[in-house]
Amino acid sequence: MFDSISKQYDLLNRLLSLGVDRWWRRSMVKRVRRHRPQSVLDVATGTGDSAIALKKSGATRIVGVDISEQMLKQAGKKPNSAGIELIKADGELLPFGDCCFDAVTISFGIRNFEQRQQGLQEMWRVLKQNGLLIVLELSMPANRIIRSLYKLYFLRVIPAVGKLISRNSYAYRYLPCSVDEFPPRQVFAAEIKAAGFGTVKAISLSGGLATIYEAKKK
Ligand SMILES: C[S@@+](CC[C@H](N)C(=O)[O-])C[C@H]1O[C@@H](n2cnc3c(N)ncnc32)[C@H](O)[C@@H]1O
Repeated sequence: MFDSISKQYDLLNRLLSLGVDRWWRRSMVKRVRRHRPQSVLDVATGTGDSAIALKKSGATRIVGVDISEQMLKQAGKKPNSAGIELIKADGELLPFGDCCFDAVTISFGIRNFEQRQQGLQEMWRVLKQNGLLIVLELSMPANRIIRSLYKLYFLRVIPAVGKLISRNSYAYRYLPCSVDEFPPRQVFAAEIKAAGFGTVKAISLSGGLATIYEAKKK
């Protein structure tokens, strides 16, 4: 699916998030920078926007993996992706040895995994001891009014605009469903812990429209 919308993905991302995704990525990078990593792996890197933003984390090695060749191709075309290692790989079976990254990030990607727990276990495996995991994901706002508006936007506006621009009606009907089906914060935090991580912090962004989950490898 992501192969078929790769060319329009960035434009749609900016339009549909009203540009807020940039701010969310910056919040993620700030948290990574505090950890002072040398190496960062960005899983489900897509067109590379988070991997590029991670250049500000101070890391000397940034690796982006994604299962979609076309998404990676778009990432590779961006001049500021120079220096980032882009690798086609499944996040549920990472092609790296144990304990080799200081930080692992995944933005708007975990929702799409077929076996989420397997993906989290892989992220745990490739992290060094005390390594940092940051998951940035869309979430359902707690406030009832904001949630209703959000659902309206997701169920009406996003599929219509998405279909118009990408000509792929399935992809942008799938997006709201995948957000709706993603587990609530406490449940997902428990999944992260079950993969072997220590305390999980869930930081709400923009009134709960997105959430950053932060945890360290025990
Ligand atoms: C919504 S996009 C997010 C892309 C990027 N991280 C961003 O912030 O814009 C989701 C990405 O997850 C990738 N993906 C889905 N399942 C995957 C898996 N099992 N392993 C690696 N990448 C995966 C898709 O190919 C797609 O590029």
